[in-house]
This record gives sequence, C-alpha cells and structure tokens, in this order.
Amino acid sequence: MIEIRSIIERAGHSKEDLITLLRSEGDDKDILFKKTGEIRDKHAGKKVWLRGLIEFSNICSKDCLYCGIRKSNKNISRYNLTDEEILKAAAFAYEKGFGSIALQSGELESKTFTNRIESLIKKIKKLSAGNLGITLSVGEQEKEVYQKWFDAGAHRYLLRMEATNPALYSKIHPGDTWHNFSRRLKCLESLKNIGYQTGTGVMIGLPFQTCDDLAGDLLFMKDFDIDMCGMGPYIEHADTPFIKYSSGIPSLAERLDLSLKMIAVLRLIMKDINIVASTALQSIDPEGREKAVRIGANIIMPNITPGKYRDSYRLYENKPCSGDSADDCLASFEENIKAEGYEIIYGEWGDSKHFFKRSKG
Ligand code: 5AD
Repeated sequence: MIEIRSIIERAGHSKEDLITLLRSEGDDKDILFKKTGEIRDKHAGKKVWLRGLIEFSNICSKDCLYCGIRKSNKNISRYNLTDEEILKAAAFAYEKGFGSIALQSGELESKTFTNRIESLIKKIKKLSAGNLGITLSVGEQEKEVYQKWFDAGAHRYLLRMEATNPALYSKIHPGDTWHNFSRRLKCLESLKNIGYQTGTGVMIGLPFQTCDDLAGDLLFMKDFDIDMCGMGPYIEHADTPFIKYSSGIPSLAERLDLSLKMIAVLRLIMKDINIVASTALQSIDPEGREKAVRIGANIIMPNITPGKYRDSYRLYENKPCSGDSADDCLASFEENIKAEGYEIIYGEWGDSKHFFKRSKG
C-alpha cells in the first residue's frame, strides 16, 4: 500500500491520487486533514471572511431535478424582495462590518432582471461608500449582462457547475436546451474573461455520482484555475423528482464526510483560493462549517435574508437558520471558532489571493 503522506506531498496529483485521498479513512484521513488545515492557515492565516448572503428571490425559470425552488415545484410560495428590503439587508451587512455581501436568487434572464440587478449594485455601492464587496450568484446570463454588472461594481461571481462530468450533468437536469452543460461552461468562461473573481462548485453525494466524478470535479477546478469554490453535500428535497433516489445514495453522515474530504483535497491542490464552508454542511451537522474551516475553508456566508422569507428559499430539506436572526446564525459559529484560535475578519473584502496572482500572470 502506498503511504498516504507520499501521495499528499506529491507534485501534480493524478486522478487516481485524488480518488485515494477521497477514500482515505481513519489515520490516513487524519493525516490529510492535518496537512490541509496547515496549508489553509499558512495561506489564509487563521482567518475567516464573511459574505452576508441575501437570497432575494426564489422565482426560477430552471427545473433542476434536485432543487427545491425548481420551476415545477408548486408547493412553495414564491417571493421577490423589494429593492428597499434588499438595500436594507445590504445596509445591515455594512453596519455589522461585513466586508462583502452575496446576492443570490433563482435564475431569470430578462431585461427587467438585468436592469434591476445593475441598479441594485450601484445603490449598494453608494450606500456603503464603495466599501461593500459584491458577489453575484444569479445563474447563467449572456456575456453582455455579466459585463454590465461588472461595470456597475460587482467583482465576484459564483456559478456552480453542479457536476463537471457532462454525462452526470445531463442526468441531474432535464434534457432540454435550457439545461445545457456547454452553456454553463461558456458562462463560467465569460465571467473569467470579463475579470470577475470566478467561483464554481459542485454537489457531493448526488444520485449516479461516483468517486471518479468527484476527483474529476477537483481536476476541473484546478484546470479551469478557479478563484473561489462553494461546494457542499446534496440534500434531498421531498418536492423534487430526485426524492425517488433517496435510498440509493450515501447516508447524510457519509455525504458530510465526503464533502469535508472534497474541501480538504481542493485546498491541497489549490492553496490560495477562497473556499466556502457551505450552509448545506451546517444542515447535516450543526458544527459542519467549523469542521470545514479546520481543514480548508476560509469563507462563510451568514444568511442575512429578512427572516420572513427564509423558509421559502428552501433548496433542500432542513436548511439551517430558517427562523434564526442573522445575528444568532453567526454568533455561535464565531464563538466556536474563536475558541480554536481563528478570527472572523470584519471590514475586509477577503479577496481570493489566487485571483491576483492569476491576473498578474
Ligand atoms: N442539495 C444541496 N444543494 C442544492 N442546491 C440546489 N439544490 C440542492 C440540494 N437539493 C445548490 C446548488 C445551487 C445552489 C444555490 O444550491 O448547487 O447552485
């Protein structure tokens, strides 16, 4: 048997190496996690940066087979925050000292939507005297739209590939032209070319997904040279077609474990990118985000959506912080990680170091 240490230390990991690391258990897994925690602390410091997450609408034109806010789900009430509510949430983030916010919603492509986001970006910049960083996560759009928003002041964009193996992508989405792997990829390329700090991610523990797929996802992120990653466990939602596969997928505990290993291995192969400790981790384990921070993650996204809408942005079952106020949601996390010597950084954008190195060439 090959010693895990020699695989970890190797330069240029093969897919087989990554699979071995993703399958590590017991002492081997401990060695991996210890190493990636050290890498994380060396490159990011013992620091965690914040993105106040505003889930401003659950209206979606897509019908992804796994997602609770899919167009065909008639079992949720749809909402769309007013501009005032969004700006109020942004002002709250600014007053709390959050360096950045993330605007996220269901996917819509229209002139009205484009103009609305553009105007919101400008207003958020204005209310924070240019100080709040803005991440967008509003799906696939035309290049011109991405450019317009970039020019208005957004500087990061998170567009998850969900699955980077085209065959798996087509199994988890309807087979129509609106759910197209090549377009998703093209969008990610446009974002990078425009000059956004570009983030992607995948779901972990999906029906039909193999360890080979997950290793491929990691290699994709490395090859694409992403700046940021947000990935987390797939979690069932009763009102989606994928609920029928619930018995055939890894247990929640296994999905959590695999997600942590994905974060660790990504940190091993991409030392200076931003990696989010996702909310979905927290929904499996109340301390899921803390666990992710210890082994590689350096960003958290506390939900600052006004409380009354939280329940309706239900991408998956048991989504945490539904009733909590934004403060509660962050407070326990902050207390826990402080006790371990980490510090939450206020008043800084917390940009991806990788982005600056990449742009300098
Ligand atoms: N489980 C976990 N994550 C999900 N998402 C959507 N549905 C689910 C689910 N059932 C994630 C997708 C999307 C992000 C907003 O939420 O990765 O990009």
